[in-house]
Amino acid sequence: MSEKPIYILAIESSCDDTAAAVMRDTTVLSNVVAQQHIHEEYGGVVPELASRAHQQNIVPVIDVALKKAQITKEQLTAIAFTQGPGLMGSLLVGSSFAKSMAMALNIPLVAVNHMHAHILAHFIDEAGFDKPTFPFLALTISGGHTQIVVVNSFFDLKIIGETTDDAVGEAFDKSAKTLGFPYPGGPLIDKYAQLGNPKAYRFTKPKVPGLNFSFSGLKTQILYFVQKQLAENPHFIEEQRNDICASIQETIVQILMDKLKLAVAQTGIRQIAIGGGVSANSGIRKALKEAETQYNWKTFVPKFEYTTDNAAMIGIVGYYRFKENHFSDAGVVSKARIEF
Ligand code: KG4
Ligand code: ZN
Repeated sequence: MSEKPIYILAIESSCDDTAAAVMRDTTVLSNVVAQQHIHEEYGGVVPELASRAHQQNIVPVIDVALKKAQITKEQLTAIAFTQGPGLMGSLLVGSSFAKSMAMALNIPLVAVNHMHAHILAHFIDEAGFDKPTFPFLALTISGGHTQIVVVNSFFDLKIIGETTDDAVGEAFDKSAKTLGFPYPGGPLIDKYAQLGNPKAYRFTKPKVPGLNFSFSGLKTQILYFVQKQLAENPHFIEEQRNDICASIQETIVQILMDKLKLAVAQTGIRQIAIGGGVSANSGIRKALKEAETQYNWKTFVPKFEYTTDNAAMIGIVGYYRFKENHFSDAGVVSKARIEF
């Protein structure tokens, strides 16, 4: 006799996307994300506006997720939500909603670490996407995070490297801002980089020992470089746009690849799974593909909708936690910073 399926409603509200998903075991039935475009005018996420937008979006987003999954809330087995890390005002909207809904339905509540979720997103069932086997290295790169993690099992994870200042997505977005691109400018840098010469300009890579990262120096270096060039030629950005973008991207990709190579050398693990919005970057994808043949690595990139902030990734952690009877009570608190 087969086991009864587990239906989990997952809620993610750690930053500026309000997201809900319904999972049947490890399969996604619906995955809905409401993006908050209000922040574009400000060139970055404004916490108060994010919290207010979550309050407006959360009910319709959950409603759509349940409708798309074609199930009623009474059929749910459990509710999973993001406990942290993230913006406190944003986290509280998701956690309060999840707690009240679980209480009203009298079903278990599962608190999920957002960074854990970016990693276990690789275990969502998706045709054409392989799952890594344990142990593997996870590189989580987004607008808010930059981490290298050794993943020994679903619940045994160890951070071996992380950023000491800006996240890699911020390095892309802040460089893009210097070039006058709208927020978030990472995808635009990528687009123009593909048309330019990555060796046109040289930026020095930060000297951070071990497996940690630093991106704030690079951001300042790019700002001063562009200001100096503009003083000599006011049309520098328009004329050299593609080459500047290609050179910035090349530097960032090299920084990531250097640390990954060091992590592989230190751990002996050759399976690399990437996640987070920056994993969409064509430069990092190309470098990882090349490393498969050059260094005999096996690399994993999840489907795009599961790699940017989404609730299906919260749902997959919720599923594995549920299987272990690892529940939270209504007293569980949101945390802006949180360890695995
Ligand atoms: O995971 P995500 O959607 O949200 C969080 O930050 O958690 O990641 C968004 C980040 C932004 O910094 C965005 O500029 C960057 O991912 N990004 C990219 C690309 N696509 C998204 N950066 C470089 N190249 C891309 N193709
Ligand atoms: Zn994230």
